[in-house]
Amino acid sequence: MAGLAERLRAETRAEHERTEQSPFVMSLLDGQLDRGCYARLLGQSWLFYQVLEEAAEAWRSDPVTGAFVFDGLHRGAALEADLRWLHGEAWRDAVVPLPATRRYVDRLRAVCFDSPTAFVAHHYTRYLGDLSGGQIIRRRLTSIYGLTTDGVRFYVFDEVPKPKRFKDAYRELLDQAPWTAEDHDDVVAEANEAFRLNRAVFEDLADASGLAA
Ligand code: HEM
Repeated sequence: MAGLAERLRAETRAEHERTEQSPFVMSLLDGQLDRGCYARLLGQSWLFYQVLEEAAEAWRSDPVTGAFVFDGLHRGAALEADLRWLHGEAWRDAVVPLPATRRYVDRLRAVCFDSPTAFVAHHYTRYLGDLSGGQIIRRRLTSIYGLTTDGVRFYVFDEVPKPKRFKDAYRELLDQAPWTAEDHDDVVAEANEAFRLNRAVFEDLADASGLAA
């Protein structure tokens, strides 16, 4: 029987592919969007990472779920630095939640504080993604928008110098968590939900950026 890490990878592949091919993501990586659109993405991200990282705080001392909590992953401070650099001191005024971001945040609030499996599903979907595709995105943004460190701190994990090694250790944690087959089903289902919520944010960002759906 496949372990949880393998199940997650295999059973979210279809949603991953759809998300990766979102028009907003593709246009951003093609250099078709301006910095304002990129800043809007970071602003929406700040809104949902706030909740995810609040939930991480709540799980920190839990013997199983707390093992996934690693401060070096947390993106809140990096996002704030990027947003301050892009918008100036009044950056908070520029961050207005899009409807899909509200739905994502509501879902995180509804499930991540009570359910270890839901928390881990959302945690996995964002951070393993940031450590994987996020690194490809950073290189593209660096060359397209002329950003070096300021503005792309979100994609820089100072405390994870070897992402591959980190991801392998994370997958071991997934496989070793003392969860039942039903729990595994729940993690996979919620991770797929997390991908859909992320894709919906990209769809709203596409609309806000004037891209055809
Ligand atoms: C342009 C957009 C994206 C590209 C090019 C991309 C690319 C990749 C690549 C190449 C991997 C494989 C890394 C490896 O095997 O170690 C990966 C893994 C992953 N990506 Fe993405 N990705 C993108 C967007 C996203 C988004 C938006 C999310 C989530 C919201 C995401 C979540 C994940 C996750 C969770 C994994 C880990 C899979 C696993 O090994 O279990 N990706 N991505």
